Amino acid sequence: MLIVANWKAYVDSVDKAKKLVTSAKRLRANYKHDIVIAPSSPYLGLFVGGKKSKLIFGAQDVSSVISGARTGEVTASALSSAGVKYAIIGHSERRAQGETNEMILEKCRRALAVGITPILCVGELSRDEEGFYLQQIRDQITSVFQALSIKERLQMVVAYEPVWAIGKSAFEAIHPSDLAEMVMYIRKVIGEFVFGKALNSIRVIYGGSAEPTNARDLAAAGGIDGFLVGHASADVSMFAALIKAVS
Ligand code: PGA
Repeated sequence: MLIVANWKAYVDSVDKAKKLVTSAKRLRANYKHDIVIAPSSPYLGLFVGGKKSKLIFGAQDVSSVISGARTGEVTASALSSAGVKYAIIGHSERRAQGETNEMILEKCRRALAVGITPILCVGELSRDEEGFYLQQIRDQITSVFQALSIKERLQMVVAYEPVWAIGKSAFEAIHPSDLAEMVMYIRKVIGEFVFGKALNSIRVIYGGSAEPTNARDLAAAGGIDGFLVGHASADVSMFAALIKAVS
């Protein structure tokens, strides 16, 4: 599975970051998952490219700017040259800051141009009985996929993250059967842009209160290729327990 540790802004000391990275290295050695660590930028600088590390690193965001006089922007080229392989793009916590589907497409393009794999986050704010939320997810996927070349589409990872399930606890996360339904829907939408067998190579992962207690059931029933883990990834023992649970 692809398991992405989205540390968000939970980790704010080098000491804690080191403990998490050391533990993740051990997990990578013991379990054959692709573990991607997505810390905040200063820690990327600290850890990426370390001695023969099997760990893969990702950014939590990437700038839509290519380069130039844009103070504070972290460009895809800068990330790539530092050894970053993945970028979380369009996370709901960034969409909430005003990020639009158009900006998200630009960010995906910037990442793809330098060989960084975008993890495109999609998900509804809430559910309604009429099923309008499905249209929201369709728009989020379509606005990016339709603008990419066939080759670029194949590089994408899609993370389904229902916003109502983020940052809660396993009890409030999605039910495995509801997840399975959504993943089928998401694959159907992606299938309008990626054809034949290639569709199976697009990884769809789940995020939203994935914890050690629910991850196994979600993995078993949900038809997913991995997880985007938030709060549980910023805690050494919780993250280790989650990896064990899905192994
Ligand atoms: P959570 O976050 O696991 O804390 O719900 C997931 C995410 O937002 O990526």
